[in-house]
Amino acid sequence: MGITGGIAAYKAAFLIRLFKKADAQVKVVCTQHALEFITRVTLESLSENRLYDAVFAEQNDYTTEHVALTDWGDVFVVAPATANIIGKLAGGIADDALSTSLLAFNRQVFMAPAMNCKMYEHFAVQKNLAFLKSQGVHIISPAEGFLACGYEGRGRMEEPETIFAIVDAYFAAEESPLKGKKILVTAGPTHESIDPVRYIGNHSTGKMGYAIASELLRRGANVTLVSGPSNLSAHDMIDFVPVKTAQEMFDACMSIFPETDATIMAAAVADYTPETISKHKIKKEQNEDALQLMLKPTPDILRQLGKIKQKQVLGGFALETDNEEDNAIRKIKSKNLDFIVLNSLRDAGAGFSVETNKITIIDNKHQITRYPLKNKTEVAADIADTLEKYFSP
Ligand code: C5P
Repeated sequence: MGITGGIAAYKAAFLIRLFKKADAQVKVVCTQHALEFITRVTLESLSENRLYDAVFAEQNDYTTEHVALTDWGDVFVVAPATANIIGKLAGGIADDALSTSLLAFNRQVFMAPAMNCKMYEHFAVQKNLAFLKSQGVHIISPAEGFLACGYEGRGRMEEPETIFAIVDAYFAAEESPLKGKKILVTAGPTHESIDPVRYIGNHSTGKMGYAIASELLRRGANVTLVSGPSNLSAHDMIDFVPVKTAQEMFDACMSIFPETDATIMAAAVADYTPETISKHKIKKEQNEDALQLMLKPTPDILRQLGKIKQKQVLGGFALETDNEEDNAIRKIKSKNLDFIVLNSLRDAGAGFSVETNKITIIDNKHQITRYPLKNKTEVAADIADTLEKYFSP
């Protein structure tokens, strides 16, 4: 880790902790100005390694510390990165421990800029950042908000948790066979309009599908998320396609699917939709005793994808209330799936609106894997693990 002299340097302590908790080894290189904001004792205690801050210091482990250190590190995370270190790296300047180490480092560099908003917007800083980006440096853009200098604007270093997640995702993607794969995920309910005001929907919130999309993104996949109405928001690196009805979801999936390597249908698609949508709000007065709605079936998207599938790995979901596994196995065959994720409403903690899920994955050779109750992020990881098997060399 590289640390420079900005007030956000105190947050670097939290970032070191997050890396250590994830079993990473951390060595810190910092500028002299950084030590005005955070102490040597803090950095050495948290990283459990000696700090490197002066090129000619007697206590250095090696004579050419910057070379030895940079051979040792897998990634270099500079947080906070001041305008100064950004300018130095962009200009190839090496005049202290950190800038020298950065120039000697030829693997992935992550920089989390932190500075006053006027400095951040300055054309020189923007030019340097654009150049570093073009050379493959991962720039973790600062957030907007209250700045220590009293200004309000863009320049706040991104939170340690977010920086950690970005670096973690880099490693996950490096190791995953899903890296670069095009994957379609569907999520959420569909809304089938009855009249201009009402619709038929279901209790799906989209949590499971969104969690799967995020996990696949984390593993380096190019993810398209086709989602019915949901309050959740997708990561901005996910190609997001919002839809409302089953028919719209069908149309979106049919056009995206041929280009994909895999598709996971986690959406709770309506099976029926009103035969006609009333142009006017249906009046209570005209239907005093009862209101009858005539429904027609919607297209079964998954079945249709199963019919046209070629090389694509296709996974579906089944939410059953009885004869779960038998029904799920029947669906694998009738929809031509590679695997199905079964969740039963009978299991406590599984189903709609809750944070947890309990799944069973069955593949088309009828191999059954039953998982314990987990939160939906962990369930998404299990589903991504299943998908990885199809792409492992
Ligand atoms: O047949 P059943 O509705 O139980 O199958 C559930 C699976 O089929 C889910 O993966 C769901 O997303 C998908 N499905 C679909 N189109 C429909 C209904 C369900 O793709 N009209």
